[in-house]
Amino acid sequence: MADLEYRPGLADVPVAESGISFIDGKRARLEYRGIAVETLAQESTFEETAWLLLKGELPNQRDLAVFDHNLRHHRRLKFRIIDLIKCLPESGHPMDALQAGVAASGMFYPGREVSNPEKNWESVVRLIAKLPTIIAAFHRLRQGNLPIEPRDDLSHAANFYYMLFEEEPSPSISRLLDACLILHAEHTMNASTFSGRVTASTLANPYTVVSSAIGTLTGPLHGGANEEVLDMLEEIGSVVKAKSWLEEAVESKKKIMGFGHRVYKVKDPRATVLQDLAENMFVETGKPEIYKLAVEIEKAALPILGPRGIYPNVDFYSGIIYQSLGISRDLFTPIFAIARVAGWLAHWLEQLKNNRIFRPEQIYIGKMDRPYLPLQNRP
Ligand code: SDX
Repeated sequence: MADLEYRPGLADVPVAESGISFIDGKRARLEYRGIAVETLAQESTFEETAWLLLKGELPNQRDLAVFDHNLRHHRRLKFRIIDLIKCLPESGHPMDALQAGVAASGMFYPGREVSNPEKNWESVVRLIAKLPTIIAAFHRLRQGNLPIEPRDDLSHAANFYYMLFEEEPSPSISRLLDACLILHAEHTMNASTFSGRVTASTLANPYTVVSSAIGTLTGPLHGGANEEVLDMLEEIGSVVKAKSWLEEAVESKKKIMGFGHRVYKVKDPRATVLQDLAENMFVETGKPEIYKLAVEIEKAALPILGPRGIYPNVDFYSGIIYQSLGISRDLFTPIFAIARVAGWLAHWLEQLKNNRIFRPEQIYIGKMDRPYLPLQNRP
């Protein structure tokens, strides 16, 4: 076999040509369709950013109004999906409920042939619209409450908060959540997007594509890290222990959750924006101890991990914001998913445009040409 070179984790191996987002890992730059993510987090909305990712251009007023209306119109779940969620164990993780709910939803919308652009767009709208409702329904049911009906008069982010807490978020909380969704919406060829594209390349239906991506996102090395960061900070306990804990962790080769990145070798620009959002949030409420501790961990890590290109990533500060909003820790990764579904679907459509099924190679390191030993002759 030609001189194949195995690249662990496909590091630095391009697996697609894509125009959706761009990262410069040395200059902490992230752009969605050429627009800086900081600008979108400041100026845009999740709905507008989702359109930008999906269509490649910012929407005009009419397109945005129609898209927004359709998203609001498709938030409700089939009652049999609610029944399915009712059968799930309360102790289960919301990401597993989300994956089950998404995969099952696809059974109600047959659009399994992916050659029809109109049907594909219907699936895009339904998936973006329904993921928040599935998560909120599971959360309410596991608390012993009935799901809260989505409200058509609230934005995507505000309605998600409303379905969790049965109260409308303040404008500043809506804005904060909306900015978090924008920051998590897309990130080139991360593991869950790649997983979705592999599934997309077999021409599987979009619900299955998103279900694949959700499964990949749950891992603690990927989307699950935002939950792990809070567990880690809670374990450290207090600011005075930050430096010693960090030094000991690095010494024992422990992975610091929320740190490091395959592409960024400087602080993740999203972590910077999320930290600014947290700071703004705490101006009114005062900085919680857990935030002060996170800042101390970052400070202690700088001289030790900085020279190795290991800095905070998107997951380091996001959970602190969600926790300060009263959101349960195991809902942090689902929030990542309701944002990233826009990116996953943009990659799904892009994959279909010029598809070839993914089928990479391997370097075989097993045994060869072995005889079959009858059972009675085996040691
Ligand atoms: C996300 O890909 C994306 O874009 C993902 C994401 C997105 O938006 O989709 O940005 C979202 O998943 C962010 C990452 C969330 N995960 C974590 O915070 C978990 C902790 N981080 C690490 O597990 C790690 O940094 C990864 C998984 C993020 C990246 O892994 P890589 O690129 O495979 O790096 P590696 O594990 O090979 O580490 C290279 C070196 C190793 O040291 P050596 O063996 O070479 O001496 O850096 C060290 C690692 O030990 N290292 C860390 C570290 N991350 C890397 N050391 C301590 N703490 C860390 N967090």
